[in-house]
Amino acid sequence: MPADKPAILFVCLGNICRSPLAEAAFRIEAERAGLEAEVDSAGTGAWHAGESPDRRAQAVARRNGVDISDYRARRVDPADFHRFSHIVALDGDNLAVLRRLRPQEGAALSLLLDHVPGRRGEAVADPYYGADAGFDATWADVTLGARHLVRALKA
Ligand code: 4NP
Repeated sequence: MPADKPAILFVCLGNICRSPLAEAAFRIEAERAGLEAEVDSAGTGAWHAGESPDRRAQAVARRNGVDISDYRARRVDPADFHRFSHIVALDGDNLAVLRRLRPQEGAALSLLLDHVPGRRGEAVADPYYGADAGFDATWADVTLGARHLVRALKA
């Protein structure tokens, strides 16, 4: 289990929309706050393994100043529960999958929006099947979640 600095894994379903955006937003917020952390993202499903993020996710990241074109999707691996100190799910369905996979003494599990006052238990909505504007809402949610998570990890 990592001890010196936090290691955070963000998890959604496909690892091509929400969790890569959460990873990117967290990197921005951590750097801004001077927090050193390991960061990665993964999906509970493997349909998109090896792919770069959805082009709409790449576009919203680019509009917010970050290039995520070299991210590659992967599925959550049992070793992740030992490699990471915190595994942060983007919605309740994926959190439930992680709870079933988690070994005793594995990484702490939470929902991203649990870290935002007043939004405990809320999901970051899946933008995959919706309109492009959904990705701006995703970016707003993951940025807010990442900011509060960074604050908690610094405390
Ligand atoms: P994500 O979005 O979980 O935020 O990466 C999805 C991406 C792909 C699929 C579903 C959600 N899919 O069914 O292929």
